[in-house]
Amino acid sequence: MLTVKQLEKSFGDTKILKGIDFSMEKGDRVVIIGPSGSGKSTFLRCLNMLEKPTKGTITFEKVELNQHNLANLRQKIGMVFQSFNLFSNLTVENNLILAPVKTKKMTEEEAKKKAKALLKRINLEDKADVYPDSLSGGQKQRVAIIRSLMMEPDIMLFDEPTSALDPEMIEEVLTLMKEVAHEGMSMIIVTHELEFAREIATKVIFMDQGKIMEESPPEELFEHPKTERLREFLSKIK
Ligand SMILES: Nc1ncnc2c1ncn2[C@@H]1O[C@H](COP(=O)(O)OP(=O)(O)OP(=O)(O)O)[C@@H](O)[C@H]1O
Ligand SMILES: [Mg+2]
Repeated sequence: MLTVKQLEKSFGDTKILKGIDFSMEKGDRVVIIGPSGSGKSTFLRCLNMLEKPTKGTITFEKVELNQHNLANLRQKIGMVFQSFNLFSNLTVENNLILAPVKTKKMTEEEAKKKAKALLKRINLEDKADVYPDSLSGGQKQRVAIIRSLMMEPDIMLFDEPTSALDPEMIEEVLTLMKEVAHEGMSMIIVTHELEFAREIATKVIFMDQGKIMEESPPEELFEHPKTERLREFLSKIK
């Protein structure tokens, strides 16, 4: 479904991603871990061209990403950030219906109906008309996730979706992500919630210094790290 070949990204003279080869199949759930500054966010941002790669290719469902098909492909790739990124000047409902209506994927009526159903699903049906600022962090992040689901993406990218949340709100967001996973969504998730990774990942990737250092199913990667770097990293976050 997604193949990345020799992806490199530099900012100025500094090479941040140093030749990433990666592939995943439909229905895979890939968790990416690694130290701060290793390039995890940059990698995710390259996958939907929020950052333009310096070298290499990204092929999504047999189509190589380029400037011309970008808008089209981006509609199939949902992205959820650490910091929620809801539009604070729009109500929850308008946040949800904006993209599907603007891209003409749905009529306003259809989008509102879908928004209502998704809000009901996360038990926030009474929040359609409020502004994001009046929601808790966990509520905002769940709305950000269903906003992504509104577009019926083929794959969802998550960049540390729970790391800005108070501990008591982390669980509600992880629970929603698990539900989405069990519905068969293809996902790439940067997170250090290892228990969660163990439960849902089909494969875990350890990035360090702009490279993929290890890549295995979760049990294997966590129980039998191959490199000293990963052993050290795991001992720090456990
Ligand atoms: N727009 C930018 N301009 C210049 N340097 C950048 C830019 N974005 C990221 N970097 C640098 O690239 C490196 C990797 O950053 P990135 O955010 O991808 O790391 P990360 O693995 O996501 O780290 P963290 O765990 O802290 O989120 C860092 O050294 C960062 O300073
Ligand atoms: Mg990051």
